[in-house]
Amino acid sequence: MDRLTAVVLAAGEGKRMRSRQPKVLHPLCGRPLIAYPLRTARALADRIVLVVGPNAADVVTLAGPDVRAVVQRERLGSGHAVLQAKSDCGDGTILVLPGDMPLLSVETIERLVDHHRKSRAAATVLTALVAEPNGYGRVLRQGGRVKRIVEDRDATDAEKKIAEINTSVYCFAAARLWPALGKVRPDNDQGEYYLTDVIGVLSRAGARVDAVLTPDPGEAAGVNDRKQLAEVAAVQRRRILDRLMEGGVTILDPATTYIEDGVTIGPDTTIHPQVVIEGESTIGSDCVIALGCHVSSSHLADRVTLKPYCVLSESAVDDDATLGPFCHLRPLSHVGPQAKVGNFVELKKSRIGRGSKVPHLSYVGDATLGEEVNVGAGTITCNYDGVAKHETKIGDRAFIGTNSSLVAPLTVGEGAYIGAGSTITKDVPPGALAVGRGHQVVKDGWAARKTKQREEHRG
Ligand code: UD1
Ligand code: CA
Repeated sequence: MDRLTAVVLAAGEGKRMRSRQPKVLHPLCGRPLIAYPLRTARALADRIVLVVGPNAADVVTLAGPDVRAVVQRERLGSGHAVLQAKSDCGDGTILVLPGDMPLLSVETIERLVDHHRKSRAAATVLTALVAEPNGYGRVLRQGGRVKRIVEDRDATDAEKKIAEINTSVYCFAAARLWPALGKVRPDNDQGEYYLTDVIGVLSRAGARVDAVLTPDPGEAAGVNDRKQLAEVAAVQRRRILDRLMEGGVTILDPATTYIEDGVTIGPDTTIHPQVVIEGESTIGSDCVIALGCHVSSSHLADRVTLKPYCVLSESAVDDDATLGPFCHLRPLSHVGPQAKVGNFVELKKSRIGRGSKVPHLSYVGDATLGEEVNVGAGTITCNYDGVAKHETKIGDRAFIGTNSSLVAPLTVGEGAYIGAGSTITKDVPPGALAVGRGHQVVKDGWAARKTKQREEHRG
C-alpha cells in the first residue's frame, strides 16, 4: 500500500504578522494555527514531518511526539523547506500542507489525495478560483494540464489576471519530487527556492501534473498578517457555531457569540448574545447561558442557568444549579447540584454543596460548604492572613447570618447558626449559635437631652 507522508511547512518567518512569536503559534478560535494542518495530517497521513524555523521549540512541543520535526536553519524558501524533510519522508506519496491555511477541510484534502493516487500523476496541486488573486501564485495551464505556477511578484500583467491560484497544498510522488526539487533555482524576485517551481520542472520533463479545484475557494484563505487572521477567524467562528446549531444548540445571535473550537455543548441549551466560551469547556443540555457570560475551561452539567454577566474560569457546575447575575467563579470552584450562587458573589477554590445558597455579595475562598447551607448577604471568608491561605469548612444545613466575617482556619459544624454581623474566629460546634459582635447599647430619651443641651449653650 502506498504510504502517505504529510509535510507541514511552518518555517516561514511570518514577517507580515509583525510579531515576536512564530506565526503558527497565533491562536485562531482557541487553537494555535499549526493545530489545524496537524489535525488534517493526523486524519489522513501515515507519517507527519513538520518543518520549523530556528528557535521554534515551542512549536515542536505543541505538535506532539507523533510528529517528526526538522529544522530549516536558513529560510531559503518553501522548496528549500520541503527539502529539509527528505530523509524523514520515505517513498510513496507526499502531501505538502502549509502551516498557515487553517480553513482547509479534511474532505478537500482527501479529495486531492484520492485524485492524485487514482491519476498516478507526478504532482497534483490544489487550486482555487478566487475573485481577488492578488498576492497568490497563479496557475498557468496549457491544454487543461498545469504547466507552471508563477508567483504574484514575478507575474506579468497578463498572468496577474489569472483567477486560478495555488493554495500551497500539493501531492507528489516521492520518486518524482526529490529529483525535481534538486533542479529548482532561486532565480526569482525574492532569491528563494520556490516549491512552486517544481511544478514547472516536472511539466517540462513531460510528467503529468494535475490540479484539483477546491469546491469552496474560501478554504484557501491564508494567514499572512493580522487582518487575514481576523478574517479567517470570523469564518472559523461561524463554522463552529453552525456545527453547534446543527447539534441542537440555540444561538440567539451568532454575530456576537464567540465559542472556541474545543467547546462541546449539549442539545436544547440556549446561548444568549455576547457570550464567550473558551478552552476545553463542556456545557450540558438544557442549559441557559444568558447575556454577556464569559466561560473559560469550565464544565457545566445539565439544566444549569447562568444569568447575565457571569465569569467562570476552570470551574465546575453541577445539574440544576443557578448562577448570577454578575458572579465570578475563579479557578477550582465547584458548585453542587441545585445550588444557587447569586449576584456579586466571588468564589475561589471552593466547593458549594448540594442545594446550598450564597445569594448576595459574598467572597468565599478556600472553603468547603456542605449541603443546604445558607450564607447570608455580605458574608466573607477571611482566608488570607497576609502570609498564607487558610481553609473554612461549613457543615450541612449551617446558617451564616448576614455580613459575617469567617476568619480561617475555621470549622462551622452541621446545623450551627452564626448571628448576623459576627466576626467568627473560633470553631463553632454542630448545632450551636455563635455571635461575635459588640453589644448594642440603647439610651432612652437621648435625642431630647441632646437638643436641650444645645439650646442652653446658645442661650
Ligand atoms: C505561497 C506560494 C504561493 C501560494 C500561496 C498560498 C510559494 C513560493 N508560494 O506563497 O504560490 O499561492 O503560498 O497561500 O510557495 N515556508 C517555509 N520556509 C521558507 C519559506 C516558506 O517553511 O523558507 C513555509 C511557510 O511557513 C508557509 C509556506 O511555506 O507555510 C508558504 O510560504 P509563504 O511565505 O507563506 O508563501 P506565500 O507568499 O504565502
Ligand atoms: Ca502564506
